[in-house]
Amino acid sequence: MDRIRIRGGKPLSGSIHIGGAKNAALPLMTASLLTEDTLTLSNLPHLADISTMAHLLAELGVGMGMNGDAVGGGHMGRVFELNAAGVTETTAPYDLVRTMRASVLVLGPLVARFGRARVSLPGGCAIGARPVDLHLKGLAQLGAEIDLQEGYIEARAPKGGLKGGNVVFPMVSVGATENLLMAAVLAEGETVLFNAAREPEVADLARCLITMGAKIEGVGTDTLKIQGVPSLTGADYSVVPDRIETGSYAVAAAITGGELTLKGASLGLIDSVADILSQAGVEITETDDGLKVSRRNGLSGVDVMTEPYPGFPTDMQAQVMALLATAEGASMITETIFENRFMHVPELARMGANVNVHGASAIVRGVERLSGVQVMATDLRASVSLVLAGLAAEGETMVNRVYHLDRGYERLEEKLAACGADIERLRD
Ligand code: EPZ
Repeated sequence: MDRIRIRGGKPLSGSIHIGGAKNAALPLMTASLLTEDTLTLSNLPHLADISTMAHLLAELGVGMGMNGDAVGGGHMGRVFELNAAGVTETTAPYDLVRTMRASVLVLGPLVARFGRARVSLPGGCAIGARPVDLHLKGLAQLGAEIDLQEGYIEARAPKGGLKGGNVVFPMVSVGATENLLMAAVLAEGETVLFNAAREPEVADLARCLITMGAKIEGVGTDTLKIQGVPSLTGADYSVVPDRIETGSYAVAAAITGGELTLKGASLGLIDSVADILSQAGVEITETDDGLKVSRRNGLSGVDVMTEPYPGFPTDMQAQVMALLATAEGASMITETIFENRFMHVPELARMGANVNVHGASAIVRGVERLSGVQVMATDLRASVSLVLAGLAAEGETMVNRVYHLDRGYERLEEKLAACGADIERLRD
C-alpha cells in the first residue's frame, strides 16, 4: 500500500488547477443510462472512483469511449463518451457497490428507462450507517415496487413505466435527490421533489439533464418540479469544478502561511467555506481565472457547524479542523450530517492537536505547532486533513493508506510539490 511522506513547515506558493467535481461526475455518468444516445462528459477528474463507476457502467453494457485527455487551458481533463444503447444488464453487483456507495445512483435511471433494477444494498461505511431508505421510499412514490432480497434492492416500475408524484424528503439527501431526479425525468406526468438537496453537484446534474431534453424547474432550490418526457437525447456536458478540492487547497495555503492561486475555482461554490476561512484570518480574493488564497497573520479560532448546502459542507470538516488545530484560541466544530465523521481526531491528536469530542461536537484548542508522526486514515476527507496537518507540522509525517486519497484527489502530492511542499509518495 502506498504511503505519503511529508516534511512540514514550508509555506506553499504557486498555482494549482482545480479539476472537475468527483461528486458531480459520478451521478452525471449514471445519467448516461437514461438515453440510447451518446452522452459526452468533459472535465472529468482522473480518480479511482471515476474508474469504479466506469467499470460498473461497462458491466451493465454501457459503451465507453475515452476520448483521450483533452488539453484545455493548460490542464488535463478527461472526456468520456458514454452510450447506453446496448444495455443488457440491470444488476449492480455487491462487489462494486461495496467499494463505492455512489453505485446506488444507477438505481433511478435503470428503473426509469428499463423498468427494473437490481442493486446491492451498500451497507454501512466508516463515516456512518448511510441508509438508502429515502431513495427507496421516493421511488415507491413514483409507483416502483421495491423488495429487499438477499442483500439486493429489487425495483420494478409499474406497467407503462414510472408515474410522476410528490416526494417529500424528511431530511436533505444528495444521493436520494439525484436518484429521484433521474427517475422523474422519464416518469409519466409531473413530479415535485420537496426538501431537495441544493448542492451544486445536484444542480449540475439537473442542468445536464435539461441539456438532454428533460423539463426541470427550480434548479438550485429545494423544490424541483419535473415534467416527465418520453425519452432523452445525448448531450455534451462539462463537469462543474470541485468545491471540496478547492476548499482543501485553500486550507493548504492557509495552514502553511503561504499563497496559492486556485485556477478554475469558483468563489460562488465555496461561500460558506470562504466565510469561515476569512473569520479565521485567511484572505481569499477572486482572480480572472480562479481564486487567490493567502495568510500573512496568525489564525484565530472560529465555530463551525456542518449543514446541507448552502451551509458548511461535511466534506470540509476534517480539513478545517486541521487548520483550527493550529489557530489561536478555541473552536467548536459540530458535525450534523454523519454520525461518525471524527475519525481523524485521534490521528490529529497523535500529531499534537488538542481536540475533545463531546457527541457531535469537537472542541479544538489551538496549539503552537503540530509534530510529524505516522498516521493512518479511514476515509477520503480524513486522509487529506492529515496531509494538510503534515504540511504544517514540524518534522516528518507519514500518511498510510493513501488509497483513500486517490478516490478523491487527483495527483495530490504532485500538485502540492509543485508549490514547494516537501511531499512524496512511497510506492510499496
Ligand atoms: C453525498 O453522499 C456525497 N457523495 C458525500 O461525499 C457527502 O459527504 C454527502 O453527500 C453530504 O454532502 C457523493 O455525492 C457521491 P446524503 P450521500 O444522502 O448522497 C442520511 C465525499 O467525501 N440518509 O446527502 O450518500 C445519511 O446517512 C463523500 O466525497 C438517510 O438517512 O449523502 C446522512 O446522514 C462522503 N437515508 C445524510 O442523510 C437515505 O436514504 C446525508 O446523506 C439517504 C441519506
